[in-house]
Amino acid sequence: MEITFLLNGETMRVTAQPTTTLLDWLRHARGLCGTKEGCNEGDCGACTVMVTDASGAKALNACILLLPQLHGKAIRTVEGIAAPDGSLHPVQQAMIDHHGSQCGFCTPGFIAAMATAHLAGRKDHDDVLAGNLCRCTGYAPIIRAAKAAEALPSPDWVKDIPPAVDAAPYAPETLDELAAYYAANPEATIVAGATDVGLWVTKQLRDLPKPVFLHRCVDLQQISVTDDAIHIGAGVTMATVLGKMGEYHPSYAELIRRYGSDQVRNAATIGGNIANGSPIGDNPPALIALGATLHLRHGDDMRQMPIADFFLDYGKQDRKPGELVTGVTLPRRAPDLRCYKISKRFDQDISAVCGCFNIGVVEGVVTSARIAFGGMAGVPKRAAAVEAALIGQPWTQEVVTKAARAFASDFTPMSDMRASADYRLEVAQNLLHRYFAQSTGQAANVLEVSA
Ligand SMILES: Cc1cc2nc3c(=O)[nH]c(=O)nc-3n(C[C@H](O)[C@H](O)[C@H](O)COP(=O)(O)OP(=O)(O)OC[C@H]3O[C@@H](n4cnc5c(N)ncnc54)[C@H](O)[C@@H]3O)c2cc1C
Ligand code: FES
Ligand code: FES
Repeated sequence: MEITFLLNGETMRVTAQPTTTLLDWLRHARGLCGTKEGCNEGDCGACTVMVTDASGAKALNACILLLPQLHGKAIRTVEGIAAPDGSLHPVQQAMIDHHGSQCGFCTPGFIAAMATAHLAGRKDHDDVLAGNLCRCTGYAPIIRAAKAAEALPSPDWVKDIPPAVDAAPYAPETLDELAAYYAANPEATIVAGATDVGLWVTKQLRDLPKPVFLHRCVDLQQISVTDDAIHIGAGVTMATVLGKMGEYHPSYAELIRRYGSDQVRNAATIGGNIANGSPIGDNPPALIALGATLHLRHGDDMRQMPIADFFLDYGKQDRKPGELVTGVTLPRRAPDLRCYKISKRFDQDISAVCGCFNIGVVEGVVTSARIAFGGMAGVPKRAAAVEAALIGQPWTQEVVTKAARAFASDFTPMSDMRASADYRLEVAQNLLHRYFAQSTGQAANVLEVSA
């Protein structure tokens, strides 16, 4: 495949296999070994680079970024974050001044993440750096360095302008083109953010038959808001969804804030998270609790369904060969929605259980209930028996305690490395109590509780 992009300000025209990762290419083809390989699966941030496209600069993990995803973008590695004359970027100088590095293995990744956040004027350093792991320095000096650099201007040399490029056959630019190709080639591999597909390559050493890359299909990257609905295109990244949901569904936004890391959210798309059908994906429970509608397209045929109906069984979705997920529509208002993610680690971890509740109470009586869970079955699934036990009943502690027992008839969770079946069932019950406590004004979030 022919791929054109900027690397540290220099135009690159590369012919590469679709499975070549940016990290391997930088280190092996270019000898740029500043970008490090830690986990090779998007978890540690040692390989972070700055990637600029039409929507601005983003921190991304080079280990699960496939070269064709970079067509038309600008990349800046740690080697290009200092000026060509060796002058340091403000975050580099601050890391020296505040002793932010010991063995230094993680440092290039931190510098790339910090320089990208600095350019965007971000001050949420804990969130920015949650995807960068450091085993020896400790985070306090690194956060001090990020804060110290805040007031200094971002140097011009990191402000890349993505190159104008011709359309590439592997990256359709319109939804019509994409849908026609996929319907005619149902064996093709759709690659959106590659936060799953990248791992098929790096961990399972798989080839990607007929890969089709979605990053240039702007039709899939739109969000529109009407009086009563929000439509999110399948190609919208989780970082963008996070930004939008803060305004409309803050609890959903809080869930997404803990989805992977900044680097993962900058790549992962909402369509990929739905299409992969994972029982532990974080979007489906929230979207089911919201009563969202999923949109699909096969060639010129479009259809839609309640998103809950898409997940048929473990690994099986209601999607025909060659059919695309094109987007999801959710209500604009859902003031009763609360989303809870339970994972072993607060940041950058996959859910053991993800519970989302949307319970309407009018004059003390439950009038509607949509409760959906991830991590409790082979698919993201509604708690129909619990909902039935609540609807029409007074919204009281007694009713909640009784209804919580119905989780045992809704779910038979499994035990795995993330949690035991007993733990999962008990957590689900406790989350209903947590929702009740929150609805009565009690602090129920670890971030709200203080001594
Ligand atoms: C380090 C790390 C942390 C993570 N943390 C979380 C987390 O906290 N919560 C969570 O839910 N997930 C998490 N994930 C999983 C991952 O981010 C998601 O599943 C992701 O949303 C997949 O989206 P993508 O755009 O990267 O999809 P891709 O990897 O590109 O594709 C995933 C699958 O969907 C198909 N596909 C993609 N788009 C479409 C479409 N429009 N139509 C039809 N098929 C399509 C692809 O062919 C593929 O089968 C994490 C992953 C990593 C690597
Ligand atoms: S090497 Fe760990 S995130 Fe890429
Ligand atoms: S300085 Fe050693 S891992 Fe961070």
